[in-house]
Amino acid sequence: MQLSGTAGNSYASLIPTVMYQTILTTLHDRLFTITINRPDKLNALNKTVISELSEAINEVIDNKLIGAAIITGAGPKSFVAGADISEFTALDGQGGEALARRGQETVFSKIENCSKPVIAAVNGFALGGGCELAMACHFRIASEQARFGQPEVNLGLVPGYGGTQRLTQLVGKGRAMEMMMTGGLIDAATALRYGLVNQVTTAEALIPATTAIAAAILGKAPLAIAEVIRLTNMAALGDPGGLEAEMKAFGALFDSADAKEGATAFLEKRKPSFKGE
Ligand code: COA
Repeated sequence: MQLSGTAGNSYASLIPTVMYQTILTTLHDRLFTITINRPDKLNALNKTVISELSEAINEVIDNKLIGAAIITGAGPKSFVAGADISEFTALDGQGGEALARRGQETVFSKIENCSKPVIAAVNGFALGGGCELAMACHFRIASEQARFGQPEVNLGLVPGYGGTQRLTQLVGKGRAMEMMMTGGLIDAATALRYGLVNQVTTAEALIPATTAIAAAILGKAPLAIAEVIRLTNMAALGDPGGLEAEMKAFGALFDSADAKEGATAFLEKRKPSFKGE
């Protein structure tokens, strides 16, 4: 395994992990940061980025040292300015569907269903596949520079990485329809008002603020966090089994060591120490 150098939005004392070509990954205090690193192309998602993102998400899922992840973009201008349009000219119908399917299955849905929290730190343009990548994450923090949009209609296309579904879930049908039909961009303040992002920070505060939220979550019981993700995703998809699943999960967690530790620590007036068991 090769190690990459620190770069992009990295900080002293971050531990670099596997070397990728188009993304940077670091691990620090159980928090894994994935930085999409093609700033000269505004971090557009080409095939290599999709494939490396898929590997990085697998790392989040499989590596026991990782408790949560942040996804962000390199450089001051862009989170991700969409799928790489230069790869579109060679596509026919079958190729287009395959591109969307591969991305959905290997990256976007995998992030959404990841049992560890994945937070988007949106530092600039989040357009098309970039907006969709942010929306696949469990929630989003944005800098004042962030701009969101689904401009696919400008190319004669529709969103292909989940935009029609997740944007509608997050901002409601009318706002989603307007954004996708006009292809227009919204600024960070509008995204906050729409509920597309949870918080807007200055550019400098984006990673520290997102890290602070991740650190707070890392102090909670991992099995409970995993169930929050699973059950909330059921609700977002309108799954009629959601309430039943919640009751079962509530019960099942009483059998976990962490639930015993949580109640005992509360009664002993001390901080719980959770083990994910
Ligand atoms: N795919 C491929 N390349 C992209 C890209 C994308 N989605 N978005 C930006 N780039 C490239 C540009 O081609 C340019 O490359 P070049 O310097 O080799 O010419 C570079 O990134 C910088 O972009 P540029 O357009 O010069 O920056 P800008 O500040 O003038 O405009 C945007 C920024 C985001 C408004 C503009 O780049 C844009 O509209 N991008 C496409 C967004 C889009 O439609 N995304 C959805 C795709 S489905």
